[in-house]
Amino acid sequence: MAGVTTADLAKEPRTVAAMFDTVAPNYDFADAVMTVGLIGWWRRRTLKVIRPAPGERILDLAAGTCSSSIALAKRDASVVACDFSEGMLRQGRQRVGGRVGQLSLIGGDGTRLPFADETFDKVTVSFGLRNVQDVPKALTELRRVTKPGGKLVICEFSRPVWRPYRALYRWYLSRVMPALAKLVASNSPAYGYLADSIWAWADQQELERQLEQAGWASATHSNMMGGIVALHSAAR
Ligand SMILES: C[S@@+](CC[C@H](N)C(=O)[O-])C[C@H]1O[C@@H](n2cnc3c(N)ncnc32)[C@H](O)[C@@H]1O
Repeated sequence: MAGVTTADLAKEPRTVAAMFDTVAPNYDFADAVMTVGLIGWWRRRTLKVIRPAPGERILDLAAGTCSSSIALAKRDASVVACDFSEGMLRQGRQRVGGRVGQLSLIGGDGTRLPFADETFDKVTVSFGLRNVQDVPKALTELRRVTKPGGKLVICEFSRPVWRPYRALYRWYLSRVMPALAKLVASNSPAYGYLADSIWAWADQQELERQLEQAGWASATHSNMMGGIVALHSAAR
């Protein structure tokens, strides 16, 4: 990460992919520590909203090391995990090791998805959309590859609704998270980017507005932990 600033990361997809390549080996452990284990609960709630059914074709965009994809494939859905960081996908491949039935890992950019129109019954993104440079483009692409009547589920950091709690959370992001990152992460400056990207990201209403602008219908959300994480869903 030497020489890479937060501003560079915000602008440059190749730099974001390279950053995820470097954090990949330690990503899941660091994630668990920095979310004090809550990541598992957030993932279970996301899975409930997706409600994968056997035989459904599901795209997990920005799949990273495949934590969310594996859970979907275990429900006998036919899952495509797509990400533009080869390092993250490599970790995913090592984890999967051919053990999880219908899971394919594919390199690809969320703003130029390598799939035909109306391929998937459901599309989902967990903690990835925030890192995408052109979010409206990604939301439009996700809609293009979803079948009519299909569903989108996004799990993403968001904004605590109650003001005092929001201030406390900001303190956690700016002080506690970087300190924890120094202890557990392979590349702690990358976690400075993480904190910045969480704070700069759209709140619940803004993301709903962007979903509607991209043509998604019935956009709705539910908050977890008072809005630290929000689960958004919408229909094609
Ligand atoms: C914080 S990780 C989340 C990974 C995984 N979804 C999870 O829940 O653990 C964000 C991922 O988004 C990927 N990503 C960011 N922008 C992307 C884009 N435009 N296209 C594909 N993947 C992207 C990164 O490579 C990284 O693996």
